Amino acid sequence: MTKIKKIAVLTSGGDSPGMNAAIRAVVRKALQENLKVMGILRGYEGLINNDFIPMSSKTVGNIIQRGGTILKTARSEKFRTEEGRRIAYENLLKNKCDALIVIGGDGTFKGARIFIEEHNFPIVGLPGTIDNDLYGTDMTIGFDTALNTVIEAVDKIRDTAASHERIFFVEVMGRDAGFIALRSGIACGAEAVLVPEVETDLKDLHNRLTNYMAKKKTSSIILVAEGDDAGGAFGIKKEMEKFGGEFDMKVTVLGHIQRGGSPTAYDRYLASRLGVAAVEALLDDQRSIMVGMINRTIAHVPFNQTIKHHKDIDRKMLNIVDILNS
Ligand code: F6P
Repeated sequence: MTKIKKIAVLTSGGDSPGMNAAIRAVVRKALQENLKVMGILRGYEGLINNDFIPMSSKTVGNIIQRGGTILKTARSEKFRTEEGRRIAYENLLKNKCDALIVIGGDGTFKGARIFIEEHNFPIVGLPGTIDNDLYGTDMTIGFDTALNTVIEAVDKIRDTAASHERIFFVEVMGRDAGFIALRSGIACGAEAVLVPEVETDLKDLHNRLTNYMAKKKTSSIILVAEGDDAGGAFGIKKEMEKFGGEFDMKVTVLGHIQRGGSPTAYDRYLASRLGVAAVEALLDDQRSIMVGMINRTIAHVPFNQTIKHHKDIDRKMLNIVDILNS
């Protein structure tokens, strides 16, 4: 086993608030362990294009509070090919890197696992995505900030919805997962939450809206994950219109606003803890794991597990939405 002297770090896939805090923690912990650190620009794309930059304590100064990622990010098509991964490996050797830390989501870890299989190169991953859809960690870096962005926006929508006695379908991110919709739905007192994991019963939703109006609720907010089977918020509104009725309905799509902004205290804390733990894991000869946090304890989860297992939403939480809006 080669002794690790120099590591590289990259961010990949959709960005998330807290990625900078994670980069900072990786760099500073590595320097403290007398390791050299290289940053790779634009994720796996930069690995292939040899976009390596030296990292010092200073290069990560004043970034813990900033959203986005100073290393930039990308979704690399070339890294999906064997040839692309071979070039990436050669660049890691050229830059004398002995190990790599990747910060990203499911796609990032799938790429990492194939790379390790082909080149036997140590990689440790950190869960960075606002979607929270990674098995092996209670929360991903960026999820909490995205939730706070959503509730701030929905609170504002609630003001105007109540004034006009309207129904709003608010679309939040989550192409394949309903974590953002469900958690923020509870936090902002939504009247209903629609998620990709559960087939939407259109008739039932229409009945509910009819009841709410009959009960003279001043407003209804329906949180819709973008991956919901009825085609997001616009799709649901269209479906509700087919039933007829006198509802005054509006749609707001929150979009990429959810991916930006200064990370919350929790995301900064999580990213800092996981960044330190990732360097420790590499020094402890771990080579194909994601570092997560389960029940407030650091967890080492093999990439094979994070990829194989699907993290499901807690369906009981959908009942809580119903109980609390009655
Ligand atoms: O970051 C995850 C995610 O927000 C998904 O929920 C969403 O569908 C996707 O990224 C959109 O990303 P992009 O616009 O970068 O393709």
